[in-house]
Amino acid sequence: MAQLTMSRNPSGASAPPQPEVVAAGLDDAGAGVGVVDGAEYHVPDLLPGERARVAIEHKSPHGQRAWARIVRRTSPPSPDRVEPACPAAGRCGGCAWQHLAYPAQLVAKRARVVAALATLGDAAPAVAAPVPSPRPLGYRNKGKYVVADGRHGLVLGAYAPRSHKVVDSIGCRVVTSRIDDVAIRVRRAAAAAGLRAYDERHRDGELRYVIVRSDDRGGALVVLVVTSATRAEVLAAAAAAVAAYPPVRGVVAMRNDRTDGAIVTDDVTVLHGVGALIEDVAGCPVEVGAGEFLQINRDQAAALHGRAVDLALDGLAEGAVAVDLYAGLGAIALGLARRGARVTAIELDPGAVAALRRAAAAGGLADRVTAIAGDAAGVPAGADVVVVDPPRKGLAAPALAALIAAAPPRIVYVSCGPDALARDLAALHAAGYRIADGDVAEPYDLMPGTAQIEVVLRLTRPTTS
Ligand SMILES: C[S@@+](CC[C@H](N)C(=O)[O-])C[C@H]1O[C@@H](n2cnc3c(N)ncnc32)[C@H](O)[C@@H]1O
Repeated sequence: MAQLTMSRNPSGASAPPQPEVVAAGLDDAGAGVGVVDGAEYHVPDLLPGERARVAIEHKSPHGQRAWARIVRRTSPPSPDRVEPACPAAGRCGGCAWQHLAYPAQLVAKRARVVAALATLGDAAPAVAAPVPSPRPLGYRNKGKYVVADGRHGLVLGAYAPRSHKVVDSIGCRVVTSRIDDVAIRVRRAAAAAGLRAYDERHRDGELRYVIVRSDDRGGALVVLVVTSATRAEVLAAAAAAVAAYPPVRGVVAMRNDRTDGAIVTDDVTVLHGVGALIEDVAGCPVEVGAGEFLQINRDQAAALHGRAVDLALDGLAEGAVAVDLYAGLGAIALGLARRGARVTAIELDPGAVAALRRAAAAGGLADRVTAIAGDAAGVPAGADVVVVDPPRKGLAAPALAALIAAAPPRIVYVSCGPDALARDLAALHAAGYRIADGDVAEPYDLMPGTAQIEVVLRLTRPTTS
């Protein structure tokens, strides 16, 4: 195997080696990946099929892997290369695949799922073509902004890749246009009131982050994430100016003095209007507050969750017993109940569980939904079907063990992490679960422009007599 050699040569004594890389795929950060002499190179802005001479910037100490920059392109641009939609594309670190045409993104996303599931060998399910997002832009119903001081005043932006430099993300085309409009208004109001941006290095200042949520009824919720040092009268002036903007239904202050990078806390005060927006889920009014988890692509999430409910209840009678594990605000549990199932929803966040109970009651489903605040390891036995929708890292070991012990005849797995999905499927396969004949893994794209991909599939445990 070839030795990787650093190309930086401060003395300039000899010309650095500049291997020619042909990208065969993309990594999650959007860099092209190609192999030269057995060594894997990750090269930003090199699309699959494109070729370039590169200079190595960083080598992995653990193997034949390096990160490099383009010195000279040696091929024409890929036919799949497109002009990114966002002004900050490539700098903001948000949508690393925006320079790739959407159909080619879908091909790359499917390849990612196929590669992850291939680790299952003969047990790997076939993978369908991803269901595309109805909208490749303007699909995000939540915008999260880091606040910093810029040359021309307050900046609402995002961290640049591998850096804490904040890149202005006003004008982002991925959030709904209402969110962008409201963010502009928040920046103006905060600056006019004299709110000081938080300075991460010196741990000093007031406004740290701004979160803007938009609903499907023309409204927006603004969350001002501030430190304890924030002057109350200045915050009040900024909040009042934001609240005066017609789409804004509520302005919320969220106190955050943490130093671990967490943005959301549960120390929330409603300053104006409402503290939560209302989203319709399975005919139930779900309150979405400042910090609750809700899939950011409303239409595509509805399609994914609808498919999960179909797979879960297909062939089962009215009154089937279902469990929704990692239930969040109940996007899947309420759909199951609306279709006649008796559902136990288990979710760690007590605020989400309370909102789920209220939504079920308001939607006339209270007698069919039992919502429990607790760990997923509390999965009960006796269900006809368990739907799991864990975070990207997949099922935690205790939850996986409890699921296997509960032994439901059917499991529907909704995944946002293909590698973790493959790992969990291997364990479930060892416990006797199989993809049913004719079933496939079904990817759904909820985040165009990024490497993210969701997958839903169904497993059954052959009955033993
Ligand atoms: C990917 S989200 C899915 C939520 C919901 N199914 C939806 O699509 O809106 C994962 C959820 O799992 C919850 N969660 C994380 N760890 C958990 C655990 N150990 N036990 C139960 N819930 C957990 C999170 O709070 C979050 O709401």
